[in-house]
Parts: sequence; structure tokens; C-alpha cells
Amino acid sequence: MEVLFNQDDHKNIWLEDYGHGLAVQANQHMIVHKGQGLILDPGGHKAYKQTITQVAGLIKVNDLKYLFLSHQDPDIVAAVNGWLMTTDAEALCSKLWIRFVPHFGVDRLVEHRLKPIPDDGMWVNLGGCELVILPAHFLHSVGNFHLYDPTSKILYSGDLGASLGMDYAFVTDFMTHVPYMEGFHQRYMTANRALKAWAKMVRTLDIDIIAPQHGAAFKGRELVQQFIDWCDNLACGLDLIESVFKVPARA
Ligand SMILES: [Fe+2]
Ligand SMILES: [Fe+2]
Repeated sequence: MEVLFNQDDHKNIWLEDYGHGLAVQANQHMIVHKGQGLILDPGGHKAYKQTITQVAGLIKVNDLKYLFLSHQDPDIVAAVNGWLMTTDAEALCSKLWIRFVPHFGVDRLVEHRLKPIPDDGMWVNLGGCELVILPAHFLHSVGNFHLYDPTSKILYSGDLGASLGMDYAFVTDFMTHVPYMEGFHQRYMTANRALKAWAKMVRTLDIDIIAPQHGAAFKGRELVQQFIDWCDNLACGLDLIESVFKVPARA
């Protein structure tokens, strides 16, 4: 567990990762304001038990107000029914995925607490503190959001900035870190056009930390800027599609 920010009644906590086997490593983050909680991308069934135990150690489970689901992937939403059944929280999810997420199994008793996020994003009030959900469509999902916390100046970026395979939690040298995220971004992110629009939007924010859903976080102004610049210039997805569409050679 790593406390990223702790001032007055506001805390940003990076929850402990208890391992995952074949399942991709995934980060769970929590924002607590005046005892009320929001959990970001709570994860699938493998993470559920340990994550809810950690939440219960930080706040009263009944004070968990929101589950923020950046997009519809199983490493984010697979356990949403368990979360809705054991807490009073609302699950916030792109309106594009509202009719699809219930296929993971959402009980009739709790389905009214699955709430759509409009395409433009929205503001959320957590115990009197304002958080903003930002559009990040096509990075990588068609209905995709990031969450910015103006109090801690942390941008939670979901799969954008994801890295795999290194043994550190915070990036220290940007160029050394690039190989751990490059392949993922080239294949999963839709196109540079979406990255450019995202970069333009987030350059208007005051950001101290970018915290992705997988791998290491970018802490400090310099690394944050380096990451945004890298995204601004990265060719990915459709930009590279001609090199992918070939009939495979026979084995
Ligand atoms: Fe994803
Ligand atoms: Fe993910």
C-alpha cells in the first residue's frame, strides 16, 4: 500500500497488489475524502477479496460511494456484482457499456446502482470534494474515461500509460521505461489522433502524478510532461494498420 497524497481530510491510496498468476497485473487505487471513498478500476474476481478487505481497513464499507470503471474490460469490471452486493456504492461506467457490463452478472437488486457516464464526462462529488471524469475515448476502449483529482493533482489514466514486466512502482528514467509500455500502446491504443486530442486536454490540467491501471506511475512534473509528450507523438493502432493486415504465412 502506498499513500500518494495525504492532506487534511483527503487521501489517495495505491492499494497493495497481492499477485495475479496468469491474470495481467492491475493496480487498484482509492480516493478518500472526509471518510467517504471512491475506488478506481476495482478489478476482477482474483483481486476482489483482498481489495475489499483493504477498503474495509481504510473506511467503513458503507462509506464507499463510488466504483469508477474507466472502461469495460474484465480486469476492471468482472467483479462489479460482488462490489455492488457488498457495498452501497454506485458504479460509474460509460453509457456505451451499460447494457454490456450486466453480462458479467449483475443482480437485479443492484442493477439500478450501475450509472452511465455521458460521453463528455462529468464532475463527481465525494464527501464535498469535486473530482472530474474526463473523456479518453479510443484510449483504448471506445467508451473510455480518466479521472482527475484537483486536490491531489493526480490523473488516473486507466490503460493509458500501462507498463508490464518491470520491477519498480515509480518510473525514474523515462527513456529506460519506454520499452515496458511501447508495444502495448502501439497495439491497444486506437490512433495518434486520439492521443493528440488527449494530450491537448490534459495539458490544461495541473498534474503531479499520472497513475495508470497497470504497472508503474509517473511522479513529478518532468516525468508527467515526458509521458504526455511521448503520447502526443506516438504512432499506434490505425496509424500502423497497413503493416498488420497481411495473410499469415503457412506454418
Ligand atoms: Fe483495457
Ligand atoms: Fe487494463
